[in-house]
Amino acid sequence: MTDILLVFGTDTGNTEEAAEKIQQAFSDEGHFVEIMDVNDCSVDRINDADILIFGCPTWDFGGIQEDWEAFQPELESADLEGKRVALFGLGDQFGYGDYFIDAVGWLHEIIHPKKAIIKGYWSTEGYDFTDSRALSECKTFLYGLAIDEDQQFEQSDERINAWVAQLLSEFQLEEAA
Ligand SMILES: Cc1cc2nc3c(=O)[nH]c(=O)nc-3n(C[C@H](O)[C@H](O)[C@H](O)COP(=O)(O)O)c2cc1C
Repeated sequence: MTDILLVFGTDTGNTEEAAEKIQQAFSDEGHFVEIMDVNDCSVDRINDADILIFGCPTWDFGGIQEDWEAFQPELESADLEGKRVALFGLGDQFGYGDYFIDAVGWLHEIIHPKKAIIKGYWSTEGYDFTDSRALSECKTFLYGLAIDEDQQFEQSDERINAWVAQLLSEFQLEEAA
């Protein structure tokens, strides 16, 4: 069985809730995803997984959620070469439109040089923000799924389900159910 590990950090619970919904969407297609708070994670566990999904909210004008920030040295020491990775971030596009899901950009900057196979890039269509560290050079996509529980909570479930369907295809995971 493919070992899929989702690691999240959270201050007020939104990223954990999104993680559980992602887990459920994979489960609906017959795939088990282990979810783990970054506080409980280790570099060995990351190195063991076949597929990694990382979720991080952005705080305080482009800041990284503090538990993820504390984990940075371990993440930097992980062996991610050839490993399939996807990113998602929680943010507020109207309240912090110059820094929308910046933490996803931070994760991408660490992981991309490690030659991970990063999937789950996500269109900017349907969002309204000025800038993001997670924005691609062509500015048409983000380096991971953006969930905005503050301004567009009614779209979160649909976005999560569409993203998981995209990941199943991009990760070439057969529908197991
Ligand atoms: C003081 C404060 C600062 C924030 N800063 C940002 C930010 O810079 N960029 C962003 O996209 N969202 C920002 N947010 C929105 C949070 O990321 C959002 O509420 C998120 O859902 C929180 O996730 P969590 O509950 O998992 O911690 C901020 C929210 C607050 C209250």
